[in-house]
Amino acid sequence: MPLSDLAVHLAPESLAEQMAEDVRAGLGSRPRTLPPKYFYDARGSELFDEITRLPEYYPTRAEREILDARVGEIASVTAAETLIELGSGTSEKTRLLLRALRDHGTLNRFVPFDVDPAVLQEASRAVAGEFPGLAVAPVVGDFERHLGELPAGPRRLLAFLGSTIGNFEPAQRTAFLAAVRGTLSAGDHFLLGTDLVKSPARLVAAYADSRGVTAAFNRNVLAVLDRELDADFDPDAFEHVAVWDAEHEWIEMRLRSRTRQRVHVRAISLVVDLEEGEEIRTEISAKFRPESITRELARAGLRVTDLWTDAAGDFALSLSTPV
Ligand code: SAH
Ligand code: AVI
Repeated sequence: MPLSDLAVHLAPESLAEQMAEDVRAGLGSRPRTLPPKYFYDARGSELFDEITRLPEYYPTRAEREILDARVGEIASVTAAETLIELGSGTSEKTRLLLRALRDHGTLNRFVPFDVDPAVLQEASRAVAGEFPGLAVAPVVGDFERHLGELPAGPRRLLAFLGSTIGNFEPAQRTAFLAAVRGTLSAGDHFLLGTDLVKSPARLVAAYADSRGVTAAFNRNVLAVLDRELDADFDPDAFEHVAVWDAEHEWIEMRLRSRTRQRVHVRAISLVVDLEEGEEIRTEISAKFRPESITRELARAGLRVTDLWTDAAGDFALSLSTPV
């Protein structure tokens, strides 16, 4: 079966336009913010992959443990013909699901969907190599804007793993779940990975690892702005910060200016004056409780049929259907 060329819903011009708009709005507001999707150029995706293997970063291992135990059940309940994966990255854990669906005998198409063409290209080649009978049809897109363009077909399983849903602001998350519900029809399923609330010490360690990989990932967004928007950020002039916000139950990643400095974002004629110690919020990573997951999905019109956790209770995977 063929590996299709990348279907691109995000032409470089449209990504650059969106980036210009987001950066102008985010750096111009107080507190200053940058959206997390700009972490993921080829280097950012490599750094994220490295994060998933860090001793402190438990979510990937916990989610893999659940998938290992449950993929057979997921395959027989969904009998999916198409697996669509949002924010697919390397699709490494997804192979467990692909194998189970192949063995179940229903799967004929895999649609990985990601904003980073580099990681998508590599993952698609690897999956096509391992699953010779499968049509692999990768899509470059923004899951906040292009869900309406997902391929149609009976019995689709839409997977959103890794707790990437935690990187949305609450209002964005509500809009995203409504859009997911809008794309699903009877017979389709939604498989969602969500990291759970746990001790702040473990959470902070997972986002401030001792080897500095998360710090490099965080600073990478500045290298992306330097390249894409002709900015003059010096990534080393910023300190990586990870804090637990107990009220909102999310981790915040920030970049703290080590000195008083002026930065130019030349492509959008923006000058940013930063005080010493001033922070730019680059990511939130919300943590969930099983009840809140079921409630939020229900509000979006999705009924949870199964919710599993790993043995330690660190991470949850839920399967839901449109009502
Ligand atoms: N699903 C993988 C990767 C998670 S990392 C896992 O569980 O390990 C988050 C992934 O989402 C990255 O590959 C990143 O490129 C992608 N991503 C981030 N924002 C996105 C957006 N707005 N639209 C599409 N993909 C996005
Ligand atoms: C992709 N996303 C779910 C990761 C997370 O844990 O929020 C991104 C990440 N940020 C720092 N480490 C990993």
